[in-house]
Amino acid sequence: MTGRVRTVVMCGVLVLAYPLASHAQDAAGGAKRPQADMQAMDKAMRALTAQIKDPAQNAASLAAVEQLQVATVSAKDAMPPLVAALPEAERAARLVEYKKEIVKLLRQELDLEEQLLDGNNTKAAETLAAIQATQQEGHRGFRPQRGRGPGGGAPRGGGAGAPGQ
Ligand code: HEM
Repeated sequence: MTGRVRTVVMCGVLVLAYPLASHAQDAAGGAKRPQADMQAMDKAMRALTAQIKDPAQNAASLAAVEQLQVATVSAKDAMPPLVAALPEAERAARLVEYKKEIVKLLRQELDLEEQLLDGNNTKAAETLAAIQATQQEGHRGFRPQRGRGPGGGAPRGGGAGAPGQ
């Protein structure tokens, strides 16, 4: 496939996928999708990944952790497109599973904050790795993938800790 044809096909996929996802979201009561919060989480995680081991940057790391926590709390109130697309009878239980995964993430982020406040960068780096594992777990369960369900258009950047996850 030439680059030009590929671009046209990818645009087509995006144009088709977005209304499908929006429609599913409307059917589910109009809850927002987590995308914007995820992008904010990704930005904070990129900063943390670069500097978590450096005690001299702990003030900046604490500021990034706070941004991560705020975006995570906001994502907790969102409805993933894959969940919005479920039949109504299945949706509530799946949304609870999504929220519990986000609660797990938030708990790890609070641990991370405490460890940075203690100046324990070794432990903070371990917790950051655990956060990245939760990110992968959450994405396996809830993030649309190319060709898989509503919202699953062409993938963008994969996230801070684990490209493509
Ligand atoms: C620090 C941890 C995490 C980071 C940095 C992160 C990052 C991202 C990024 C960069 C995207 C793509 C956004 C885009 O389309 O532009 C995304 C999408 C998504 N993530 Fe995460 N994520 C994290 C944790 C999680 C967890 C734990 C879950 C599930 C409980 C989750 C569920 C989702 C879902 C459902 C989407 C698709 C959102 C949509 O299309 O509206 N993520 N995430």
